[in-house]
Amino acid sequence: MCGFLHLYKMYKAIDSIGFFDSGVGGTSIWKEMIKILPNENTVYLADSINAPYGKKTHEEIIALSKKNTEYLLNSGCKMIVVACNTATTNAIDYLRSKYKVPFIGIEPAIKPAALKTKTNSVGILATKGTLSSALFARTSGEFAKNVKVVEQVGKGLVELIESGNINSPKMDALLVGYLKPMLHENIDHLILGCTHYPYLIPKIREIIGKEVHIIDSGYAVSKQIRNVLQKETLLNPTSNQGTYKFYTNSNTEVLENLLNDVLFDLKIEKMEF
Ligand code: DGL
Repeated sequence: MCGFLHLYKMYKAIDSIGFFDSGVGGTSIWKEMIKILPNENTVYLADSINAPYGKKTHEEIIALSKKNTEYLLNSGCKMIVVACNTATTNAIDYLRSKYKVPFIGIEPAIKPAALKTKTNSVGILATKGTLSSALFARTSGEFAKNVKVVEQVGKGLVELIESGNINSPKMDALLVGYLKPMLHENIDHLILGCTHYPYLIPKIREIIGKEVHIIDSGYAVSKQIRNVLQKETLLNPTSNQGTYKFYTNSNTEVLENLLNDVLFDLKIEKMEF
């Protein structure tokens, strides 16, 4: 469908919160957000055709983030949630400097893990793009100077989730290979540094057992969204149930399957953006 027609349809998104991610993973944040802000309208862009962002250069991630942001702003969104660690850690400073709406990002939760660890060792599973970003280096330098941070790139995980292969022997093998060595480093907290990874929690739990705390930032980000909406007097004043729009530029089925625990009979439209 042509871009103009899509923009016209998305025009109804005025006063919505815009979300974008390199694909389906940011829905893990969106699910947390609707629990505490059920009457906010939302528009979600899954840029799955360009996933994974984690393998791209800093400049490429900025260009993709800019494209997604402009799409959401052209549809009238009042706030943008960068529901992707890789895009946040590489592009949020740029986005904030260029556009006037409030931006909420998601970063690996190093600080709470570093504060709570008893073994003085925490693990982080994230994309290469996040782990090599200047923002991540700054945050770990500031909050985890005296803690061992075991970094692991989750190579291949996003691709498997994007292709609908969460439950596959390949996924199991990758997770075992990434997580077991962290256990040997005596981690007591595992930070999920990618919004796709909360969908892997049941599998991760099987590998790491009950003792290691899994830290995922979905709830904290949702509270931050609510705080900023309140502060900027942008909260939806009506008490109606919010309306939700989802757009993908790739496979609609994978996105539908991940959302069907919350939204029944959702029909997602594929479009170019
Ligand atoms: N959901 C994105 C993140 O949080 C996935 C990154 C990717 O596409 O590599 O980092």
